[in-house]
Amino acid sequence: MSAADVWYIGVDQVPESLAVLLDGRDRARGRRILGETDRQRFLAAWVLTRLVLGERLGVDPAMLSFDRTCAHCGDRTHGKPVVETAGVGPDFSLSHVGGLAVVAVSDRAVGVDIEDATAGEQPLASALTERERATCLSYTDFARLWTRKEALLKAVGEGLGIHPRRIEILGSTPVALPEELGSPRDFALCDLPLPAPYVGSLAVRGPQPSLSVRGGAELVGDAARLVPRLWSPTRV
Ligand SMILES: CC(C)(COP(=O)(O)OP(=O)(O)OC[C@H]1O[C@@H](n2cnc3c(N)ncnc32)[C@H](O)[C@@H]1OP(=O)(O)O)[C@@H](O)C(=O)NCCC(=O)NCCS
Repeated sequence: MSAADVWYIGVDQVPESLAVLLDGRDRARGRRILGETDRQRFLAAWVLTRLVLGERLGVDPAMLSFDRTCAHCGDRTHGKPVVETAGVGPDFSLSHVGGLAVVAVSDRAVGVDIEDATAGEQPLASALTERERATCLSYTDFARLWTRKEALLKAVGEGLGIHPRRIEILGSTPVALPEELGSPRDFALCDLPLPAPYVGSLAVRGPQPSLSVRGGAELVGDAARLVPRLWSPTRV
């Protein structure tokens, strides 16, 4: 059975000093983010992603670089990020919302999405099919379903480039997909056990993976202790 590894971290658990792990492109993206909270969330997600991928690939996390070329239009800023330095590497996907950042890694195409189940926003009814709407009795139901849809759309690298109503998910089973994405039976979805109030889902191409979900506090803490020895602050 193939595996999918998921790591999560509280945004405030990632010290600013770990920004040394980011490369010039990451830092330029970070500078374009206007709000301090959004910038911190971006930092947390990408530090965690670098640490997890660095460990998995056995490389210095600061030496990784990422390609974000969109498969449709060739724009280099909004495609699914892939590891540029790994040759044929694992696939990964990340999501950051409120105070939490999550990264998923797998040998198969993978997508992850999280939401705050207490956000209490107006559920986006236009994103759901009629049968899906009937399964949403609360905002939490909607948030869970939304993460399943978005995780699947991120696994295939489309994101919201495909209207979410074009895919239908009942329970945690995909039942309809646009033809170009393949058969709904080609994908598996898993709910993620995350700290409240967050809900999240993982999608992989292929059968149900063996799933591991871990907090990344120790990984981040170890890296923070190594900063002065391994990574020069002049990278910031
Ligand atoms: C992917 C997307 C759904 C994420 O939205 P979100 O729920 O607000 O944010 P999340 O935190 O859950 O996920 C964001 C992460 O998804 C990843 N991501 C971005 N585009 C992606 C894509 N096409 N496929 C998979 N993952 C993608 C990035 O890592 C991003 O994090 P970053 O901005 O810090 O690098 C949304 O950004 C999107 O649809 N982007 C592409 C759509 C597009 O431009 N299509 C036009 C095609 S020409």
